[in-house]
Amino acid sequence: MCGIVGVAAQRNILPILIEGLKRLEYRGYDSAGVALLQNIDNGNEPTKLAIQKAVGKVVGLVDKTIENPISGLTGISHTRWATHGKPTELNAHPHRSGPIALVHNGIIENHSALRDALKKKGYEFLSETDSEVMVHTIADFCSQGHDLKSAVQEALATFKGAYAIGVVSENEPHRVIGARQGSPLVMGIGIDENYIASDPLALRQVTDRFIYLQENELVEITPTSYHIYDSNGEEIQRDVVQLTEVQENLDKGEHRHYMIKEIFEQPSVIQNTLHGRISEDRILEESFGAEARDIFDKVEQIKIIACGTSFHAATVAKYWFEEWAGITCTVEIASEYRYRKVTTAPNTLFVTISQSGETADTLAALSKAKKLNYLASLAVCNVPNSSLVRESDIAFMTHAGTEIGVASTKAFTTQLVALQLLVIAIGRRYEITEEREAKLVKQLHSLPRLCEQLLALNNDILEMSHAFTEKHHTLFLGRGVHYPIALEGALKLKEISYIHAEAYPAGELKHGPLALIDSDMPVVAVAPNNELLEKLKSNLEEVQARGGKLFVFADKDAGFKDDGQTTVLNIPHCEESISPIIYTLPLQLLSYHVAVNKGTDVDQPRNLAKSVTVE
Ligand code: G6P
Repeated sequence: MCGIVGVAAQRNILPILIEGLKRLEYRGYDSAGVALLQNIDNGNEPTKLAIQKAVGKVVGLVDKTIENPISGLTGISHTRWATHGKPTELNAHPHRSGPIALVHNGIIENHSALRDALKKKGYEFLSETDSEVMVHTIADFCSQGHDLKSAVQEALATFKGAYAIGVVSENEPHRVIGARQGSPLVMGIGIDENYIASDPLALRQVTDRFIYLQENELVEITPTSYHIYDSNGEEIQRDVVQLTEVQENLDKGEHRHYMIKEIFEQPSVIQNTLHGRISEDRILEESFGAEARDIFDKVEQIKIIACGTSFHAATVAKYWFEEWAGITCTVEIASEYRYRKVTTAPNTLFVTISQSGETADTLAALSKAKKLNYLASLAVCNVPNSSLVRESDIAFMTHAGTEIGVASTKAFTTQLVALQLLVIAIGRRYEITEEREAKLVKQLHSLPRLCEQLLALNNDILEMSHAFTEKHHTLFLGRGVHYPIALEGALKLKEISYIHAEAYPAGELKHGPLALIDSDMPVVAVAPNNELLEKLKSNLEEVQARGGKLFVFADKDAGFKDDGQTTVLNIPHCEESISPIIYTLPLQLLSYHVAVNKGTDVDQPRNLAKSVTVE
């Protein structure tokens, strides 16, 4: 989704602004832009704003800056993911009003009313965006005699909605103002230069020292100073966080796409997620942190909230909590939960799951839950220091490493691993006996090796994928805990291949989807050898009887046979406790190959964003 970078320095900062945007590219965007305060003639002339924008990738913007070179010591840059108005140069950020330029992430809900009022005052609008009202509002306060900081403070009070912004002015050429409400913004500290960005990742090439701005805070940076203000305009101090993570190798290596690289990383990142959290036969509860034990002792129910792929992980965990531990667990999509009246049972643990830790709806759900009577909040998250991690009572990290592909793969399977540890930690206070725990842990130990075996099926899955390339619709079926795996398989396929894909619990087939079955509709089934296998087989016979083509990911002993109507991919036998994780991998590979066959933009599928920081 949209990305912001801002720099105040004493050297030409165009390369920092561009590199920052490149590092945020994976989040999804459709245009990019940069504004520099260009100091013409070594400062003998007044500073002028130079703005360049391009539709499409950052590389297009770079080409423009080569054709018409620009440089400067202060500036802001942006990648835009269209919400209000199409991806055009006019709608791309930065937006300008006289001497002022602004970049914005988020949505201004009262933009229509503000736009009408500003038009009456004579401001001319060039774009269809909600963001443009912000720059004119700030310019309007400046024209009334405010300096840039106080103009931004005054303007923010008039906006309803969510924002992270970066603002510069020709009249204050060494200053960048940043502010946030409902969208993330960090400040980076350098040597004789300071920065702002929507994600520290954008600035890791220039600093490892960050301040995470809290809600309704404003920051003013110059090359040699920074000041942070709360919503009352009072200056406040915030701790500097030094990021110590080892810099990951963020290129694709031998792989054609990030997605396939990340699929193949699963054995090692699953191992990383387990590392230090299990002994030979027990889970190590201390790995949940010092406060966890007291909280877990009191848990009577679980509520899990998430979006997208993380919601599918939540749904798997519901089966595990109820079947293994006998604990009531309800799951809900964050965007639904946040806007409805909810009831809370006593001693309910509120769990959020998020790869990024910045998903707007999940954060809003957490903020709502904190006002309700929950026992405590626990985040399962992949990004240390993300908003979700900072705002939850307990954070349990997945160690998937940075996930670049928009379609989540390794983040999902590591979420399942982390959730399984959580289920055991709480479940040992309920129906999970020591003996059962030892068995579950043994299976977890075997996971990385089994995942390797699954990945060795890549060529068979590539072959299978050709049957999907020309199709327009696909149905995924699963039963029990493998139903959410079917949901995740369908989501992967639609996200990156643009083939319409739906998932159903196989038992629901005759309540509707059976009407869709014909020889043109591939049906994918997840078929481990468990107690629901015979039920699933009957459902699949119903498909066959209607001429449907079946693609079955089946346990090697499940008794499926390849014939003209059925294609079987034999999956090595695995225990029920880890099979949702195991069966995910071939479905990821199937989607990947179908998308490559179709020639889509696998890592940055159209219209989608990696981190959805607006509603
Ligand atoms: C976006 C991403 C998905 C992700 C979802 C939730 O839609 O494209 O891959 O599952 O957001 O994101 P989160 O970071 O909260 O897991």
